[in-house]
Amino acid sequence: MRFRLSEFCALTIGYIFLIPGATCFKPGVNPVKRYIITSRGSNVTLVCLGSSVNPLDSLPEWKLNGRKIKNSARVRAIEQWFPDARGNFSLHITNVSEKDVGIYTCAVSVATFEKTVAAEGFIKLKLYSSLRWPRGTYALPMAVTGCPKLRRIIWSEGYLRQNTEDTSPLNNWSRPMHLKGLKKNNEITQHFCVKNKRAGHRDWPKGKYCIYKKGKCPIGFSEGWIKWDDEDTKNSNLASGERPDGTYREDTLLYFCCRSDGSADTPIELPMRLPFFLLKHASKCQAVMGMRVIEEWLFWDCEDKENKNRWSGELPESLLAKDIKLFFCYYFQM
Ligand SMILES: *[C@@H]1O[C@H](CO)[C@@H](O)[C@H](O)[C@H]1NC(C)=O
Ligand SMILES: *[C@@H]1O[C@H](CO)[C@@H](O)[C@H](O)[C@H]1NC(C)=O
Ligand SMILES: *[C@@H]1O[C@H](CO)[C@@H](O)[C@H](O)[C@H]1NC(C)=O
Ligand SMILES: *[C@@H]1O[C@H](CO)[C@@H](O)[C@H](O)[C@H]1NC(C)=O
Repeated sequence: MRFRLSEFCALTIGYIFLIPGATCFKPGVNPVKRYIITSRGSNVTLVCLGSSVNPLDSLPEWKLNGRKIKNSARVRAIEQWFPDARGNFSLHITNVSEKDVGIYTCAVSVATFEKTVAAEGFIKLKLYSSLRWPRGTYALPMAVTGCPKLRRIIWSEGYLRQNTEDTSPLNNWSRPMHLKGLKKNNEITQHFCVKNKRAGHRDWPKGKYCIYKKGKCPIGFSEGWIKWDDEDTKNSNLASGERPDGTYREDTLLYFCCRSDGSADTPIELPMRLPFFLLKHASKCQAVMGMRVIEEWLFWDCEDKENKNRWSGELPESLLAKDIKLFFCYYFQM
């Protein structure tokens, strides 16, 4: 004999009357945060909120990578029950280490006569140090805070100063501006973080975003380029150090690597200890786990006479004509 949930409710109706707010509905659990990235030695609390649960017949349980967690001095589950059949199931972990990393399941089950009705939620816990910059050679726009260094320093630095139209100069940029480099109405300086070594944690994740090309575009990216017609008269362009692939003379040509094989709304995982930039490739900035993002832009007032701006291939979000506007995404921690 099998009971469906509704039958179970009917059979236990007297019981339910004893528990104000209890319902016959399937229990639910909802993780408050699905991704938690923390540092070694820190304390974290994972929280799942339960619905249609009650202390008498609902059994909350935590698992790590599928294995049941037992309470210890370091890892402790705490349950709070509220009226209207809600519950707060939290797991406190102190002195987090590698062995705590993984996928946590908060489960709540309600035992009926024949079967158990259960609900599960998942929370991913990571350590900062378990994240490194993805494999391949490439360059990123440098933020005012510098390159997003991890313990192992992997970035080489360089910069580019473009002397744009000197007659009625109209360069412009968004404010606040987190891209490093002096900006004036006839001059724009950009700094770059260049990764010259191929080694990395894994390949860049699927999504909609661009980076600068340095060597071969990493797996999953397509190439494109933009040529800026900089000032023709007494041009004072200057480039130094490690830079993206391109040509750096009286005009500037830069290569990009762009991809659009995923949704910009699906957060990708990147090292999040320090602020960094990606280039925008869709109507929205790519979402990055645990980071807030703001859109920023640069506008180059290019040479007015016989303008030779050119572009080709897959490119960042931009306005390309006789002047050039490029959109960037600035990421910083919440
Ligand atoms: C973590 O919690 C323990 C015990 O509650 C406390 O002694 C310790 O200072 C906390 N550590 C941090 C980094 O907050
Ligand atoms: C759930 O409990 C945790 C502590 O165990 C607390 O930090 C959190 O604010 C609670 N959330 C709600 C919505 O009650
Ligand atoms: C935290 O855990 C590490 C091992 O992962 C241990 O060496 C250290 O003593 C612990 N610290 C505290 C305050 O318990
Ligand atoms: C620069 O951009 C801002 C914001 O879009 C705009 O309000 C301002 O008029 C622009 N300045 C020039 C000189 O175009």
